[in-house]
Amino acid sequence: MVAACLPSGPRLWGVRRAVVSALTIVHLSDLHLSQPALSGRSLAHPKRLLAYLSWRLKRRARFDQEAFGAVARDVQDQHPDGIVITGDLTQLGLPSEYDQVREWLLSLGPPDRVSLVPGNHDFTCAERPSETLDRWEPWIGSPVADGDRFPTVRDIREGLALIGASSARPSWPTLAVGTVGADQLGRLEATLETAGRSGRFRVLFLHHPPCGGIVGWRKRLTDATALRSVIDHHGVELVLHGHAHRPLFNWLSARGRRVPVIGAASVSETCPAKGRTPRYNAYRITPTDAGWDLEVTVRAWSPSEHRFDSEETRRLFVPTDPGDGREGSSEELGVRE
Ligand SMILES: [Fe+2]
Ligand SMILES: [Fe+2]
Repeated sequence: MVAACLPSGPRLWGVRRAVVSALTIVHLSDLHLSQPALSGRSLAHPKRLLAYLSWRLKRRARFDQEAFGAVARDVQDQHPDGIVITGDLTQLGLPSEYDQVREWLLSLGPPDRVSLVPGNHDFTCAERPSETLDRWEPWIGSPVADGDRFPTVRDIREGLALIGASSARPSWPTLAVGTVGADQLGRLEATLETAGRSGRFRVLFLHHPPCGGIVGWRKRLTDATALRSVIDHHGVELVLHGHAHRPLFNWLSARGRRVPVIGAASVSETCPAKGRTPRYNAYRITPTDAGWDLEVTVRAWSPSEHRFDSEETRRLFVPTDPGDGREGSSEELGVRE
């Protein structure tokens, strides 16, 4: 549940901001780490059969076993305060794949520092919760409402809230669309408001990108416009996503400010024809008088060195949410890199 009370911090622009010291988040996405085995009733579903053929004929060859084997150690070397995983951990979302992923998650570190949301591959078909997300419960975070798993909130140290929204829904064969849904959007509004009033740095993460023009119609977030409206009205400091399998930097409006929207590549996919190599992101968040400095580092797999290296670092600034009583001036709303 969202913590009711947090330490009082300095008031900026009339808004209390929780005191935070510098901290690090690691962002992994699109692991696709499991090895599916189709049998029995799972063969009967046309979408699962098509996805299985796609994996056997194409995707399986792109999984970089050596790179993926090195991920957990490299992540631990970043000494993260929190780890965010934005979906597509499996190939077909079979219960046996959920168990394979669970074994790997156990190698990543204490579950209370990890927060994940599912992707479209994790919900290729409708399955009972006991055969799917229940098996990842230690890493999903706490639901904000009884009976509704998403959005979740994971409080990491003082002043940081990892807010997970699920866009994963079963869809028709050949589609990889996602939907947050009206009910979850309503709960998300309240979650963002509560975390914002206490001055926390809100990281909203989901599988599908909320910005337009990143993926095609077949892979889109169907209610991206509604989600952007929620973000604009209720505020957030950082949005993270996956699904596109490449590093992405965009911006969205959030209560008069521009806030970063950052996509992580697949942490396991190698595809030279598309310029894809396994990558993940690390974020260093440092509080300042007027907001937060955000340093974004893309860690990329080097096949020749057999290790991950820092490929690119960007420095961004996220202003403090101006709150209900104040609109920021154009200078204050600017983003410097
Ligand atoms: Fe994916
Ligand atoms: Fe996806």
